[in-house]
Amino acid sequence: MEQKNDYKIRIDNLNLHFTANHVLRGINLNIRKNLITALIGPSGCGKSTLLKCLNRMNDILPGVRIEGQVLLGDQDIYADTVDVARLRKRVGMVFQRPVAFPISIYENVASPPRVHGVSHRGTLDSIVKSSLVRVGLWDEVADKLHKSALSLSLGQQQQLCIARVIASEPEVILLDEPCSALDPMSTMKIEELMRQLAKHYTVVIVTHSMQQAARASDYTVFMLSGEIIESGPTGEIFTSPRDSRTENYITGRFR
Ligand SMILES: Nc1ncnc2c1ncn2[C@@H]1O[C@H](COP(=O)(O)OP(=O)(O)OP(=O)(O)O)[C@@H](O)[C@H]1O
Ligand SMILES: [Mg+2]
Repeated sequence: MEQKNDYKIRIDNLNLHFTANHVLRGINLNIRKNLITALIGPSGCGKSTLLKCLNRMNDILPGVRIEGQVLLGDQDIYADTVDVARLRKRVGMVFQRPVAFPISIYENVASPPRVHGVSHRGTLDSIVKSSLVRVGLWDEVADKLHKSALSLSLGQQQQLCIARVIASEPEVILLDEPCSALDPMSTMKIEELMRQLAKHYTVVIVTHSMQQAARASDYTVFMLSGEIIESGPTGEIFTSPRDSRTENYITGRFR
């Protein structure tokens, strides 16, 4: 029997409108703790929008209306009392193209903890090191921490972005097509890294790659036109989907 504690995030009847566009339609979804959940579905079905609802990144957009409930642990993240900056520390996000800042490798990782009040140099040094070790980048950058982050390859920059998220000690890591700008080797590295991350964090990834979802996730959620059509253990979704629309999508009959 599944327990409530197995879930890190519980989404209850979430609806989102961008002005007249009803983008998310009655989303109900439980996201399991310390596992990798993949969101898949054709372009425009609402994957990124749903992901961004998990750390309130849609709030600031003009004309957006959000109804329903998202619980992180036991906290309703849309409650008036929620400190959005603290929420985003708990729920970090990595984007499609690596957004490394044109500052040093060190500062890219040190700036989030600094913003959250860590100023002791030794503490920052150890956060930077442990975050870079955790993403597997330490050995490659240890002797050039003060060089510009833009001197790294794209794949390394994406690892760096993940290190920056980790430096905030999040509970959940959201990744929106994190490999779409990367070559196959870097993609493999990020997929291996996600597996490591899931030991410590709850990971939610949006991907267009069926192979990636099948390889790298534990749970798969298939969306179409703002609705969840089907979700379940990745093995089941890919071998015996219940809905013909899921089957059509994963077998590449429509995109
Ligand atoms: N900032 C915005 N303002 C208005 N409408 C938006 C905005 N962002 C997304 N939308 C609309 O919301 C819908 C879902 O978009 P979303 O980006 O979530 O899709 P997606 O599944 O991530 O697609 P893709 O696979 O192409 O990234 C689309 O109809 C899109 O036009
Ligand atoms: Mg998207």
